Amino acid sequence: MAGRVFARLSVTTACDTLRTGQLTAQRGQTITHSPPDASADTSWPLTGIDPPPNAVSLTATSVPTSDIRRPASGVRRPASWRLLVRGGPRVSPVILIDDIHRAAERLNGVARRTPVITNPVIDSLAGCQVFLKAENLQVTGAFKFRGACNAVGCMDTDQLSGGVVAFSSGNHAKAVATAAQLCRTTAVIVMPTDAPPEKVDGTKAAGARVVFYDRFGEDRAAIAAEIAEREGRLLIAPYDNPLVMAGQGTVGLELMDQVTNLDALFVCVGGGGLLAGCATAVHAGSGSVEVFGVEPEASNDHALSAAAGERVAVQVQPTIADGQQVSTPGRLTWPVTARLTKAFLTVSDAEIVATMKLLFEHAKLVVEPSGASALAALVHQDLPDLRGKRVGVTLSGGNISPDRFHSLVG
Ligand SMILES: Cc1ncc(COP(=O)(O)O)c(C=O)c1O
Repeated sequence: MAGRVFARLSVTTACDTLRTGQLTAQRGQTITHSPPDASADTSWPLTGIDPPPNAVSLTATSVPTSDIRRPASGVRRPASWRLLVRGGPRVSPVILIDDIHRAAERLNGVARRTPVITNPVIDSLAGCQVFLKAENLQVTGAFKFRGACNAVGCMDTDQLSGGVVAFSSGNHAKAVATAAQLCRTTAVIVMPTDAPPEKVDGTKAAGARVVFYDRFGEDRAAIAAEIAEREGRLLIAPYDNPLVMAGQGTVGLELMDQVTNLDALFVCVGGGGLLAGCATAVHAGSGSVEVFGVEPEASNDHALSAAAGERVAVQVQPTIADGQQVSTPGRLTWPVTARLTKAFLTVSDAEIVATMKLLFEHAKLVVEPSGASALAALVHQDLPDLRGKRVGVTLSGGNISPDRFHSLVG
């Protein structure tokens, strides 16, 4: 792998330290990072996947914070690599469409190209042509496998020998555990004590060690960071990681390839990784696709942040949408989602349950609550501008036990 340059960053921001993915640099410093090299080193772990391309040059420049104050409609992301600086040393790198293309190459043959499903009953209820991107049928049962595989697939031999650590209420946990297993490394996953048992079981079945924490009294990120430090593991954050965001963006990239002339895309939002990736992908393909983010009423931090013009935190209320129980938009995802999202919509638990039932009855799909939230907004909200339009919708996951499905849907 000697001599191969994965990323070169010239740090010209006002901040002192830049962190992006696995790289850290001081102001004014140029850094390089070598990727796994399939030809020189047989350890490249994902069969059938090319290692990252040789020379990608990224130049960091600062932009005024006013750029990220307000979500704007139909604004294309800038062609140049930019960092959005929010004061002090906090820096948010924004992913490029090329990052998503590279992720798609890496995932080729590993992640599933999930089907797009249409149904006349759903069309008539929504009042538009609906194209359901069935990520509930993805490997591990959720889109999270894409981001996890992209991040773990970029680790070098040294990092792989140390292993990974992640925190998640379920789907990222199972995805990182499975990606680690594929890449022949080990995983520790920090999960809340109230995580759905089927998600804990799925994570353990993929060979991970699970460490539990109290969602209401402990800081999961701090616990994971401490494990990373103590055990020499690489922390793979569930959404605030450019490689994870790029991997999730392959959902949008694929959808644009499968469906022509989309007018809008509805994406469910937790921390914003899926939305950031998909919005980047569809805006690069067609600046005219309007992107909507959907979150549960109980966790409406994106809607409130958009109204406030900056990231705000909420006290998450109980909701069945366990994948979206996030109190504040991601630090790295928000600059992307605020710029590229037309509006953030909220849905109630009752609307989510009705949508799970609809998907089961008419599309024969089993979808978990968070996975149904984007369609719930399209079906239950009055959106006259979308009448008769072609609308893509992410069905982000299907990890739900028969008992829980039965208790919710009846
Ligand atoms: C099924 C499902 N949908 C949506 C989300 C939200 O994804 P993100 O955090 O990337 O916004 C999650 C997150 O865990 C999830 O599991």
